[in-house]
Amino acid sequence: MQSVSKIKEVREIIKDWKSGGFSIGFVATMGYLHAGHKSLIELARQQNDRVVVSVFVNPTQFGPNEDFAKYPRDIEHDWQICQEAGADLLFAPAVTEMYPDNNLAYIDLKELGDNLCGASRPGHFRGVCTVVGKLFNIITPDQAYFGQKDAQQLAIIKKMVKDLNFAVKIIACPIVREPDGLALSSRNAYLSTQQRQAALILSQSLQAAQELLLKGERDAQVIREFISEQIASEPLVKSDYIELVDTLTLKPVKNITAPILVAAAIYVGKTRLIDNFLFEEI
Ligand code: PAJ
Repeated sequence: MQSVSKIKEVREIIKDWKSGGFSIGFVATMGYLHAGHKSLIELARQQNDRVVVSVFVNPTQFGPNEDFAKYPRDIEHDWQICQEAGADLLFAPAVTEMYPDNNLAYIDLKELGDNLCGASRPGHFRGVCTVVGKLFNIITPDQAYFGQKDAQQLAIIKKMVKDLNFAVKIIACPIVREPDGLALSSRNAYLSTQQRQAALILSQSLQAAQELLLKGERDAQVIREFISEQIASEPLVKSDYIELVDTLTLKPVKNITAPILVAAAIYVGKTRLIDNFLFEEI
């Protein structure tokens, strides 16, 4: 596996691969890689001739009071995971390489980024779309892999690709969980043992809500309140949002008549965690 930090080097390697007729799969990450990221890389490995992984903690998607500076970083471990998962190229640029001067061009999908995670993280998805757009222009992948874990991000990136005619196919990948149900996240590293235990209420309440839906409950407010009560029962946890939204528009639904996304975010201490499930069997 090759590892580079300069855009120019990536472009040269990609040019070479394209002239050989190789298809390119791409996984964008912020590093501190775990089995969730690895599953994306492995799927890209199966479906493409060449696989590129980017590791870049993107400053433009963090708010001024968020965890950009202390976001966990371990590039050696990331290198190891990429190697094991069969990546061909690791691209780990510096902030000055991606944003060499005052960046004035941004990609903003307006209302799609305003609710759910966007409500408590204003500007977050503008930063995500901008960096993913830049990475797509640098790497020019045929297929790019994103986790269902970040369901709003996935929906927004699909819409960005459609609206701006990026020549890439977006592949959605299932959420990878710990055996007890906690969705894997680089931010789980912030949790103490006690907080880690308390955080389980997120996946457990969503799982229980899924069962209510399967039993026939179709009132979104009932499901919302059910999840809210469960989360409130855990003293170390504070809920940020609990929403039942249309899978494409991300607008809240009242009566459940079409495929929906049930998404929630919680705070455990200062750590913000998200989880969700899709309910499609109407
Ligand atoms: P990051 O949080 O590092 O996640 C990179 C990719 O891994 C995303 O597509 C995310 O959905 C996926 N992922 C994370 N945890 C997962 C899990 N438990 N199961 C399945 N997939 C999982 O998301 C970002 O980085 C950034 O916003 C990025 C897209 C790289 C732009 O900076």
